Amino acid sequence: MRPVMEFTPSIGPAAALFYSGKAFPSMKGNLLVACMRGEAILKIEFLNNKISSYHFLLKNKYARIRALTEGPDGSIYFSTSQVDPPESRAQQGDAGVDMILRMRPATTVEVKSKNAIPLSGERLTQAVNFGRLVNTNNVSKPKANNKATQLIYAQLCAGCHGVDMKGVDTKPGLLNPKLMYGNSFNAIKKSILKKIVTKGMPAWKGVLLDKDVGDLVNFIISKRN
Ligand code: HEC
Repeated sequence: MRPVMEFTPSIGPAAALFYSGKAFPSMKGNLLVACMRGEAILKIEFLNNKISSYHFLLKNKYARIRALTEGPDGSIYFSTSQVDPPESRAQQGDAGVDMILRMRPATTVEVKSKNAIPLSGERLTQAVNFGRLVNTNNVSKPKANNKATQLIYAQLCAGCHGVDMKGVDTKPGLLNPKLMYGNSFNAIKKSILKKIVTKGMPAWKGVLLDKDVGDLVNFIISKRN
């Protein structure tokens, strides 16, 4: 049987699914294919049982993508696959961090505050950068309170530390006069980069740009004052 579609060099197809959810109506019936070597999600559209078009989503944004699945609400969950030697390329320093990411429509953002900015896939991509995709020429002075920083906080931190930084359930707030691991810029930065994962705080080193961590620290300090 002849293949209906082929790619040379190989895109390294991994998980695939026919999208059936409600969250992205325009993708209904599309075949989504996680691409390892292709470093993207291949989206194939059909018309009368024939392929009518295809696009690569998130091309080279999150590196190799292995697992892909649809949540009950139609969100698309996918995992990256950088850390699987010997198959993958050598990791660069601490950049070998894998993530499970959720793609959801911008209108369903759950974090509600006057500061929250709905994230589309593209905006989220801008907020979260993998170390090896980082453009180090683009380092500017740390700023507190810029939109990108608020976006990163809303997306990556607010779920545990609260939109208002006052903590959620058992997760600590960040406004306490005396932080557990120190109040200084450097202490907070260290907390973010290598907090104790076993206590429920992810280590963000290699996930966030150094500049973004600096901005986050300034953002936290600005709220503490
Ligand atoms: C999955 C939950 C979770 C997420 C997401 C999370 N944290 Fe945390 N964070 C924690 C927990 C739990 C602690 C306390 C760890 C401990 O007790 O050792 C903590 C501790 C901290 C501390 C140290 C607080 C202190 O009192 O010294 C800082 C600063 C911090 N987090 C910032 C952040 C930032 C910035 C982000 C987003 C990039 C973030 N956290 C995302 C759970 C989380």
